[in-house]
Amino acid sequence: MSSTAPWWRDAVIYQVYIRSFADANGDGIGDIAGIRSRLPYLKSLGVDAIWINPWYKSPQADHGYDVADFREIDPRFGTVEEAEALIEEAHAAGIRVIPDIVPNHVSDQHVWFRAALAAGPGSPERDRFIFRPGRGADGAEPPNNWKSCFGGPAWTRLPDGQWYLHLFAPEQPDLNWEHPDVRAEFEDILRFWFRRGVDGFRIDVAHGLIKHPELPDLPAREGPDPLAPHGGLDHPHWDRDGVHEVFRAWRRVADEFPGDRKFVAEAWTQAPDRLANYVRPDGLHTAFNFDYLMTPWDAKELREVIDTSLATLGSVGAPATWVLSNHDVVRHPSRFGRKVVKKWVANEVYRPEGPLDLELGTRRARAAALLMLSLPGGAYIYQGEELGLPEVEDLPEEVLQDPTWERSGHTDRGRDGCRVPIPWSGERAPYGFSPDGAAGEPWLPQPPEWRELSVAAQEGDEDSMLALYRRALRLRRDHPALGDGTLTWLDAPEGVLALRREPGFLCVVNLSAEPYALPAHKDVLLASGPLADGRLAPDQAAWLAL
Ligand code: GLC
Ligand code: CA
Repeated sequence: MSSTAPWWRDAVIYQVYIRSFADANGDGIGDIAGIRSRLPYLKSLGVDAIWINPWYKSPQADHGYDVADFREIDPRFGTVEEAEALIEEAHAAGIRVIPDIVPNHVSDQHVWFRAALAAGPGSPERDRFIFRPGRGADGAEPPNNWKSCFGGPAWTRLPDGQWYLHLFAPEQPDLNWEHPDVRAEFEDILRFWFRRGVDGFRIDVAHGLIKHPELPDLPAREGPDPLAPHGGLDHPHWDRDGVHEVFRAWRRVADEFPGDRKFVAEAWTQAPDRLANYVRPDGLHTAFNFDYLMTPWDAKELREVIDTSLATLGSVGAPATWVLSNHDVVRHPSRFGRKVVKKWVANEVYRPEGPLDLELGTRRARAAALLMLSLPGGAYIYQGEELGLPEVEDLPEEVLQDPTWERSGHTDRGRDGCRVPIPWSGERAPYGFSPDGAAGEPWLPQPPEWRELSVAAQEGDEDSMLALYRRALRLRRDHPALGDGTLTWLDAPEGVLALRREPGFLCVVNLSAEPYALPAHKDVLLASGPLADGRLAPDQAAWLAL
């Protein structure tokens, strides 16, 4: 890429799920001091930036996505001073820092919500949230039929009879983004952290801020999926056009600060062109590519989603991003390690179908990493993905903490299986996640098999997932063809993807059942597995110099 292009056009951003990354004080919960102690690891991995899941003061009803005070760090994680030290040390290591901001809702312990409860129906304090009378004779029915993403109704009734809206847990009341206080407050919070040196924000539920003024019922439909299309794009609470005015104002705030600050939107939309609306030149810089994340291991579908993403995002001048896993979805070696190739729908309960072939899933994950990191644009790596961690599917019920588990009436186990603390070293739990002899157990138990997947176990093993990610990230930095730019597809047999980047770079991925003879090339720069007589085995990928 050209050296004048802003860094975020092709950054590799590592997601730090702070609770589960590294625990420095031994209470079993990851913290800022833990992240600071692992900066050398992140530097040696070769990432450009870290996105840190919410670290603000929070009762942790949804593990930090219920924020009580955006200008305080939760004491479990540290202090504002420690956050400042982390930002400084990360910058010194050449790593940028992107915290999470949560504008759709706050904690029920936030001062505004407490004031709203105290002030009573009809008060200006309640106007910052979405309070309504109920329906039915005594108002005993919720104001409409909207559902919480974690299960159950999106409304909770107070003793005074009013109901308030929460698209997530009852501890996460939705803010009223039509209220000027709400807009001013968030712009001020952005400035608070920009002044402390953060390089941008990941915007939680960016597609949810604006609600239809009349809060109409959703049309009746099958299934529990609150993100599914409801016929037409005029969804009463997702992806309404009004959100863009909010983000244009945020862009102006970011532009007040020196350096290239950037936003990345968590925006679930029904169609790629709706996603492109978020990243127009006067709006946000980037958005997660969930269409890519949800695509099964299938050559035709992958090629389609890659082309559509590049075309639609490119049409507004925005770079594409690529992501395989995050803290909300089943880890991809476990998704790819099942026979059933299934298109998966946003927020759908992902129930593993059929037996897991983890060897197959891991082989595919290695190839998927080379494909993702060869594509034009930016990429996200979810902590532990570089170790090949699978989903932990057998967490005992009594340790489950995701609100989804309770709210779904124990039908959906939720997202804890991808949030198990990282194994760093050692022979037994906590595998270096907490210091030796720590008082607290890791907040979720680590499986004994993770001994072999720890960072220390993979260091020095040339064939490890960690070695593959390190090499790929180094090449991606050094090779002039990688990062921002364009691609061309080369002819290849069915089930094989061959994409060319200029100058002189080819990525080939074999998703077919037959070995594939590599096309003419000068050098094999990197392969996801051993090449037998110049042939790529099924579920293998290679980077070639031409
Ligand atoms: C986003 C987060 C998820 C959280 C939800 C509510 O989808 O990624 O973890 O539960 O928003 O804030
Ligand atoms: Ca801790």
